[in-house]
Amino acid sequence: MKIDKITTNKRKFLDILLIGDEDEKMIGRYLDASDLFVLYDEDRPAAVCAVMKTAEDIIEIKNLATYPEYRRKGYASALIDFVCNEYKGRFKTLLLGTGENIKTLCFYKKRGFVETFRVKNFFIDNYSHPIIEEGKLLTDMIYLQKSL
Ligand SMILES: CC(C)(COP(=O)(O)OP(=O)(O)OC[C@H]1O[C@@H](n2cnc3c(N)ncnc32)[C@H](O)[C@@H]1OP(=O)(O)O)[C@@H](O)C(=O)NCCC(=O)NCCS
Repeated sequence: MKIDKITTNKRKFLDILLIGDEDEKMIGRYLDASDLFVLYDEDRPAAVCAVMKTAEDIIEIKNLATYPEYRRKGYASALIDFVCNEYKGRFKTLLLGTGENIKTLCFYKKRGFVETFRVKNFFIDNYSHPIIEEGKLLTDMIYLQKSL
């Protein structure tokens, strides 16, 4: 397993980025300005994490996804740890926004994130089509953060 920072042709990873954020237009809003990290399993891309500076002391995870066949191997957790190490010292807070999906919220809370605020109707107002996860329509964006 190795993690690389991708600096050119980030769009090559669009298929996996679409697992973390199913609206290509939304991905286009942050991909160029983001640092993109790819975790490889025996030279095959298995998981990605895109992070972007959103304030002087805040770095935000904009996308985190693992291909279904590589899940439950600790890859997303490894990417979060990698990102924490990469940015600590330079930033105070690692922030991320996600839909109100209990499994996703538990995943982040177990990894040290705490809920901070929510943006009402974010998914309704910003996405071109309804986003359904685990049979539930996503409406608000929930923000969680972790101190670096
Ligand atoms: C969430 C996700 C990135 C986890 O990737 P992973 O490489 O399997 O993560 P890890 O192996 O480090 O940890 C697996 C964890 O995912 C949890 N998980 C399983 N299904 C999940 C789901 N649908 N949503 C969120 N978490 C899930 C497991 O409970 C496990 O947590 P645990 O260790 O607390 O039991 C991956 O399931 C995924 O790509 N999901 C779709 C995209 C997504 O929801 N992205 C996050 C929101 S921005």
